Amino acid sequence: MSEETALLSSRDHDEYGTRTKPDAPFNTRVRSIVWGVLTLLTTAVLVVMLFFLDDLPDSLKSWAGGEPSDPMFAALSILDKSPIIDGHIDLPILARYRYANNVSSIDLNSGMPAQVDIERLRKGKVGGFFWSVYVSCADPDAEGEEFLNATWRVRDTLEQIDVSKLLIEKYPDTFQLALGTTDIKSAISHGKIASLLGVEGAHQLGNSIAVLRQYYALGVRYVTLTHSCHNAFADSCGIAPGKEPLHNGLTPLGLSLIDEMNRLGVLVDLSHTSDATAIQALKYSKAPVIWSHSSARTVHDVPRNVPDEVLKQITDLGKDAVVMVNFAPYFVAPDGLANVSAVANHVEHIGKIYCDFDGIGEVPTGLEDVSKYPALIAELYSRGWTKYELAGLTGGNLLRVFEGAEKVSKNLKAAGAQPVYDLYDKRTDIPRGGWNEL
Ligand SMILES: *[C@@H]1O[C@H](CO)[C@@H](O)[C@H](O)[C@H]1NC(C)=O
Ligand SMILES: *[C@@H]1O[C@H](CO)[C@@H](O)[C@H](O)[C@H]1NC(C)=O
Ligand SMILES: *[C@@H]1O[C@H](CO)[C@@H](O)[C@H](O)[C@H]1NC(C)=O
Repeated sequence: MSEETALLSSRDHDEYGTRTKPDAPFNTRVRSIVWGVLTLLTTAVLVVMLFFLDDLPDSLKSWAGGEPSDPMFAALSILDKSPIIDGHIDLPILARYRYANNVSSIDLNSGMPAQVDIERLRKGKVGGFFWSVYVSCADPDAEGEEFLNATWRVRDTLEQIDVSKLLIEKYPDTFQLALGTTDIKSAISHGKIASLLGVEGAHQLGNSIAVLRQYYALGVRYVTLTHSCHNAFADSCGIAPGKEPLHNGLTPLGLSLIDEMNRLGVLVDLSHTSDATAIQALKYSKAPVIWSHSSARTVHDVPRNVPDEVLKQITDLGKDAVVMVNFAPYFVAPDGLANVSAVANHVEHIGKIYCDFDGIGEVPTGLEDVSKYPALIAELYSRGWTKYELAGLTGGNLLRVFEGAEKVSKNLKAAGAQPVYDLYDKRTDIPRGGWNEL
């Protein structure tokens, strides 16, 4: 109806239009002059951009496809297109220890203790992160040599998955639960922070591969094979001065665990593992692997960092992987020397990135919390990294590896791979011979 009215009135106007007809040649002339001027202007702008790109202000330069000269300007514009995807943030354990997992008493908007809140995540241009649903290793004496008393770790892990999901739900305008790479991209394109779950140690599985399947069903998308303790699946590297090996890498149950992780599409995370565990897992896993938060041992020599020998294996074996750099000062540099340049040295050495906030007491100078990511990107930009390399570093590499693992899972399922039914051989609570034995 209103459309009809509009048409009629314009037609009316045309009929009475003593203005339109005599003005037409004038309008045409004006139009051609305007076009001429516009064409000249456009040409001039293009010429200036092509030949004087370096002299343009940064805002015009990056718009024209040039390289901005201010590293921070460059970092922020790269991050606008390719935000950070952080492999490991310890917010859930802070919720547990400081707030007894009472979500009502946690205000994530701003002013959180430690290094993470929404204000700083936004300022740091974070587009996604893995919420670490970590619980600590059991006391070896209480757990026993065979790790048989691990059951409370499963309860506690469920509580950490619960608190993470409740926090994600509490801020629907900020966070969006992500179960895969499609979800990550969709969350980012809607201006949300993609929220993934990662279990930081197979000690949290209660020695059971069935528990892995249920964590997967709850949304968990990586499992670190060990934390700082050995477990029934694999050896840890410990912290300092390191740990004597127990199994010399993976156990048979550890191999079965990787089979099931590959089948499900749960990323194998090798941070915290011993070098032997890492090399064996790298060789055995059909899917690309990750280090969710580990730095380079050549740059700073502690057992928790990845040695060149392992990094070289990635290339030698023709595997894909991503090493996300840990910011915890102890793993970055000698006492008091951890700063943004030192972290950049690790990144440059490894060639890839990511980090650990909220699980660390101290922080490197210049990287005090998640709002400071642009400083690291700016540092690397000023060292000559291209915007394509930096986009890979901020999130592209993780997405590529994760997509690789999703593909392996899809192919294994399509080929008819069955769930893994192996039980931990030290368990005596389940009869192996069937009901007849009872
Ligand atoms: C949880 O926190 C809220 C807000 O601080 C408080 O009112 C409530 O009593 C707490 N609940 C428990 C069980 O501590
Ligand atoms: C495991 O737990 C049981 C029951 O809580 C306890 O009796 C046993 O001593 C524990 N085992 C070890 C090795 O600590
Ligand atoms: C970081 O510390 C080193 C000394 O260990 C110093 O040379 C360097 O300039 C510092 N970098 C920054 C960005 O402060």
